[in-house]
Amino acid sequence: MRSPQNLRSHRWFGVDTMRGFGHRSRARQLGYTPEDFSGKPVIALLNTWSEINPCHSHLRERAEAVKRGVWQAGGFPLEIPTLSITETYMKPSPMLFRNLLAMEVEEVLRSLPVDGTVLLGGCDKTTPGLIMGAISMNLPAIFFPAGPMLRGNWNGQPLGSGTDIWKFWAEKTAGNISDCEWQEMESGIARSPGHCMTMGTASTMTAITETLGLALPGSSSIPAPDSNHIRMAAACGRRIVEMVWHDQTPSSILSKESFDNAITADMAIGGSTNAIIHLVAMAGRAGIALPLERFDIIARRTPMLADLRPSGRYLMEDFYYAGGLRALLNELRDLLHLDCPTVSGKTLGENLDGARIVQPEVIRPRANPVAPDGGTAILFGTLAPNGAVIKPTAANPNLLVHTGPAVVFDGYEALEHAMADPNLDVTSDHVLVLRNAGPLGGPGMPEWGMLPLPKKLLDQGIRDMVRISDARMSGTSYGACVLHVSPESFIGGPLALVRTGDLIELDVPGRKLNLLVDDAELTQRKAQWVKPAPRVPRGYGALYAERVTQAEQGCDFDFLQGTALVPEPEIH
Ligand code: FES
Repeated sequence: MRSPQNLRSHRWFGVDTMRGFGHRSRARQLGYTPEDFSGKPVIALLNTWSEINPCHSHLRERAEAVKRGVWQAGGFPLEIPTLSITETYMKPSPMLFRNLLAMEVEEVLRSLPVDGTVLLGGCDKTTPGLIMGAISMNLPAIFFPAGPMLRGNWNGQPLGSGTDIWKFWAEKTAGNISDCEWQEMESGIARSPGHCMTMGTASTMTAITETLGLALPGSSSIPAPDSNHIRMAAACGRRIVEMVWHDQTPSSILSKESFDNAITADMAIGGSTNAIIHLVAMAGRAGIALPLERFDIIARRTPMLADLRPSGRYLMEDFYYAGGLRALLNELRDLLHLDCPTVSGKTLGENLDGARIVQPEVIRPRANPVAPDGGTAILFGTLAPNGAVIKPTAANPNLLVHTGPAVVFDGYEALEHAMADPNLDVTSDHVLVLRNAGPLGGPGMPEWGMLPLPKKLLDQGIRDMVRISDARMSGTSYGACVLHVSPESFIGGPLALVRTGDLIELDVPGRKLNLLVDDAELTQRKAQWVKPAPRVPRGYGALYAERVTQAEQGCDFDFLQGTALVPEPEIH
């Protein structure tokens, strides 16, 4: 139990030195009095709100509710803006900036008089970015999820972020949707603040974070506009003050077991493939190794229970009404480490007590799962010696065992152009291959992995075919898309050596991805391969290219992995 004198912020506000005078006088300049800040835990609300981030447009208001809770519990709240990574607008890929947010979080917390933090975010990359930084700094921290937006609505049917737009775009390309209908969808798909309401990366990462024990129980399922969301914000404010007094840090919560719990949740919700990269990176910050094989082991024993798009039928608002994440996890008690601690001060098992499934068509009981095993499979083989990922539940089952000739593209623009060509030499048996879309090639591993289908095949009614790349895929996407092929083509991985016409073997049940070209030929091609010049010659992009790791290592910077202690700043 901490006392006011051994709060971290005491070094700034509590000491009778010239610097202490400066810190207190400037707090008074901000309008605060010693009653506000003396001897109280300073809580930084790291807020990823911005006017260009529609998923976080309500987080200014929610910050006020968090502050209310902090004041109620006897803390001193300060809202501090941090990088707002918006999935919709940031180019070339928001993923490029996840590590930048993580660095910012760590350094902001370290350099300022902060005792604990509430992290406000939810759009895809903000959750892992905030959590990675908070793990590295290791101050008491609670993640407050932005919450999913309301269901989309068009023509009497619910619309899901991303997922339905990919589907209807294919129909529009095939001439089945009019311009007028398309505009109606544009107005109806995003109807409230909040992150994407399919089980995309945002919903996956917030659910995973809650399962890890870093968010209050139930918080990740609440729709953003719901008044429960406001009350949850205040609860985070109250709880973080208690956590500071008890010095409950991320390192006291995270363990190999809590990450196993998170992977189990990921598989049961049919989570985004992106979660694999983020979980590996988050675990790396905590000094916990998370090899890709671990995902496959847990996937094989975990039934998929959430019937949510893109793998299923419903949306996050339905998930909340059906009982939310607590109800789903309660159904999996025997597969979870229930004694893992959480930010609530209780164990995961205690957090789940009393949770129940209200709508079994949305959250299935164990006896009637959506799929008998998890939503992600890890592949290895000559085309992906260090691994690749596929989401079988979101693919045409007939394509999960498939051998076909490659049609290879070196860049997304060339691929898009070719797909529009009605004379493209392609059949549904072909395997589309895109390279130069990995961590360095993208750069930032853009979400190009759901490669567009050839118009020629769309017109024939084809809606899925095998596609392979070193890119990621939006969590709202679907199809027989093999992703995260590692090593990436940009650094000379086998993907760089594939030629149009080569046979590629995909065997998801056997977990295989092979390039059926003999070794002698591949050696010859490798000798002819020329290393491309770095994509970005200066600034953050250059640092990224120098220090980013490959997909199976989480795409974190190598110098940010692990738990090496950084000295506290001197207060001179
Ligand atoms: Fe923010 Fe999808 S665009 S979560």
